[in-house]
Amino acid sequence: MNKHITFHNHKVNQRDRNKMNGHKSLVIWMSGLSGSGKSTLAGDVEQALWEKGIRTYILDGDNIRSGLNNDLDFSDEGRQENIRRISEVASLMCDAGMVVISAFISPFKSDREKAKAIIGDDQFIEVFVNTPLEVCEQRDPKGLYKKARAGVIPNFTGISSTFEAPENADIEVRNHLNSRYSSCQQVVNFIEDRIVESKNYIVQHG
Ligand code: ADX
Repeated sequence: MNKHITFHNHKVNQRDRNKMNGHKSLVIWMSGLSGSGKSTLAGDVEQALWEKGIRTYILDGDNIRSGLNNDLDFSDEGRQENIRRISEVASLMCDAGMVVISAFISPFKSDREKAKAIIGDDQFIEVFVNTPLEVCEQRDPKGLYKKARAGVIPNFTGISSTFEAPENADIEVRNHLNSRYSSCQQVVNFIEDRIVESKNYIVQHG
């Protein structure tokens, strides 16, 4: 941080906001290949949490790259900056009391580690949407793999750009082997426990 910048701690803080919302905030960080089903899973998880009265927000690769990050490309540097900005945004939204669901390829281990450091260990849940490349390529929902194979799209993840698979994710989802519902429940069950901890805090200290 610049030495002429002074961080200000405002009176109302994350704990207060969590208390008002009735649940803890955290970041569900989904990582996986294009076409692995991150956005679909994020939408399903959001809906399930929303129905339980939990405040949520999805940060999604294609959407964020249409606005905030529309100046970034898919070079390694572009992806690093993409994930750095998302990490900061997710951290702010977590501070604001939301359960943030981020759905980015986030292909590099070092960037995911930085995201975890920015957001904080205890509020970062890593989800690996582990759909094999062959399945993603067969699905090819946006026709991008076909273009990547034809050389029309350079630096395409899994084809001409690296994907470093998460090794110790909190949750590993295999949506090509399980139903859409059970993949969603896998995440929701894990998250619910984390949020309930905060309810205990509220009961004890509220
Ligand atoms: S990341 O690597 O920087 O984390 P991000 O999740 O934001 O990627 O964006 C991925 C989405 O951008 C893909 O789902 C796909 O729709 C689109 N895309 C366009 N070009 C590429 C590319 N070269 N590699 C991967 N995805 C791409």
